Amino acid sequence: MSQDEAKRNAAAAAMEFVESGMTLGLGTGSTAAFFVEFLAEEISDGLDVRCVPTSVATFEQAAALGIPLLPVEQVERIHLTVDGADEIDPHACLIKGGGAALLREKIIANASDHMVVIADESKAVETLGAFPLPVEVSPFGFTITAKKVFDALKTSGVDQPIVKLRESPVGKRPLVTDGGNYILDCRCKEIPSAQAAALALSVVPGVVEHGLFINLARTIILGDDEGAQILEFEY
Ligand code: 5RP
Repeated sequence: MSQDEAKRNAAAAAMEFVESGMTLGLGTGSTAAFFVEFLAEEISDGLDVRCVPTSVATFEQAAALGIPLLPVEQVERIHLTVDGADEIDPHACLIKGGGAALLREKIIANASDHMVVIADESKAVETLGAFPLPVEVSPFGFTITAKKVFDALKTSGVDQPIVKLRESPVGKRPLVTDGGNYILDCRCKEIPSAQAAALALSVVPGVVEHGLFINLARTIILGDDEGAQILEFEY
């Protein structure tokens, strides 16, 4: 099975949630990019939607495809957001931020009536944590913040976290997010309580946002080589 085919199948299945007249949040990453392509095709066939991208990369893709975009400041209601994920647990708790867009992704997801997550089935896990948890931090004092992030994760029950500054793919310097911040990637192996970790991280000064998305995704679409499985959640 090609992972891309599974991502594409998940993205295609998300189109059934889209209706004319909606304002949509557009996620970030390779799976979300497939959704943006499908959406552009439907728009050229007459679908009437307006969209808010969650990153500069998604903005550029959507603009190049002629998708109508709204500045986030003009958005009054977001009916639906479709986004990818790095890990998904059985309660629809997510790790996001592999593409460094977690802050904008969480703002838009949290403001949406409905968040649909699209992913290939390999993203479904029993317990979160094999994927390093991204934590977006202020550049000022980031080495101090990194120690406090380590402490917070330990307090929440993570055994031996390893906290590492994410580097830019071009050159040995910190990766800078669309919001001008840094990312700490936290290797946890296993996060025993996503709720406890989220709470502990959220009170660390210097932490702008963390990549744990809890009680946000109402629909999870897992793609495979044959199609996609749709799971619904209520909170
Ligand atoms: C970006 C994200 C992405 O949604 C996540 O990394 C999944 O990406 P992909 O669809 O390429 O596997 O959270 O910040």
